[in-house]
Amino acid sequence: MSRPRVLSGVQPTGSLHLGNWLGAIRNWVALQDSHDTFFCVVDLHAITVPHDPQRLAADTRSTAALYLACGIDPARSTVFVQSHVPAHSELCWLLNCITPLNWLERMIQFKEKAVKQGDQVSVGLLDYPVLMAADILLYDADLVPVGEDQKQHLELARDIAQQRVNARFGPRDADGEVIPVLKVPEPLILKEGARVMSLADGRNKMSKSDPNEGSRINLLDPPELITKKVKRAKTDPVMGLEFGNPERPETDNLLGLYALLSGKGRDAAASECAAMGWGTFKPLLAEALVEALRPIQARHAELSADPAELDRVLSSGRERASAVAEATLGRTRAALGFLPASDRAAQA
Ligand code: AMP
Ligand code: TRP
Repeated sequence: MSRPRVLSGVQPTGSLHLGNWLGAIRNWVALQDSHDTFFCVVDLHAITVPHDPQRLAADTRSTAALYLACGIDPARSTVFVQSHVPAHSELCWLLNCITPLNWLERMIQFKEKAVKQGDQVSVGLLDYPVLMAADILLYDADLVPVGEDQKQHLELARDIAQQRVNARFGPRDADGEVIPVLKVPEPLILKEGARVMSLADGRNKMSKSDPNEGSRINLLDPPELITKKVKRAKTDPVMGLEFGNPERPETDNLLGLYALLSGKGRDAAASECAAMGWGTFKPLLAEALVEALRPIQARHAELSADPAELDRVLSSGRERASAVAEATLGRTRAALGFLPASDRAAQA
């Protein structure tokens, strides 16, 4: 039996932060032993909001390097850049034409991002979840490890695969049962780290798009900057840290980070910090952060010094990814009834 397949990705918009690591990438690492893992840098998604063409390539490289620095092993995982595999754009188009517009208008992330942009919202921003569905469905992914905020997009990918493609276009076997064209994926959202909140406001998630730099810890922030950001993080006037008090979202978030990064776990961290003042707690948290990020930063520096090695990884990733993606795309084209190009027919 082949191992179940995993696909996930992060956008190369600026620097990756603690939420990306704890909510997503950290969970990818463990899956490499048990699953057939595909991780892409989703650069086509990064241009759904205004982007800087001078930075896109460098950010794409840096994001791929961070995957490896966080423990993604190219010998066990396929690491690639989304735009290097044109099948993503083509499947997106096919899915666009069979996905109801009102499914996209309901997406919370679209609504949130759209209000920030007024009349400058692009068609691509609305279409973002369909491209994401294409990313996932191309690889017959069984599991998609993401943070909590992506749950609705995963449900959309499932609905597109099941209701719009398989049910409507799937060929039938002798008993009249549908033979699926696309695999219906499951989300994998781990509880711990699934929602890392902003340092400036414990009710908002930590995000790349927050204009306040102090609201997030980037994975490549130097130790002094981490310490400074933690020192300035929003607190409340109550003494002692605790979990689960809805009146104290900052405490919940920062104690959760400490529990996770120190490796102590929630119970031990909660009893250690139950009577602690913020002045004692913050240096502990800063230290846990600096120590957790130190090996990632060291490995990232090594990889950045050897761009040829990263190129090799991305090029072999592209080859492996393309082979799988082309097969799925071919199956989908056929199900939708397209005339095969004669060279494609000859290959089939
Ligand atoms: P993005 O930065 O939007 O490309 O997100 C990449 C991955 O990081 C996705 O799986 C998100 O769910 C996850 N993620 C982003 N922000 C957070 C956060 N604040 N907490 C937990 N996970 C997050
Ligand atoms: N939309 C995801 C995010 O912002 C990124 C993404 C794009 C993704 N394609 C994907 C995640 C496919 C998982 C699988 O977090």
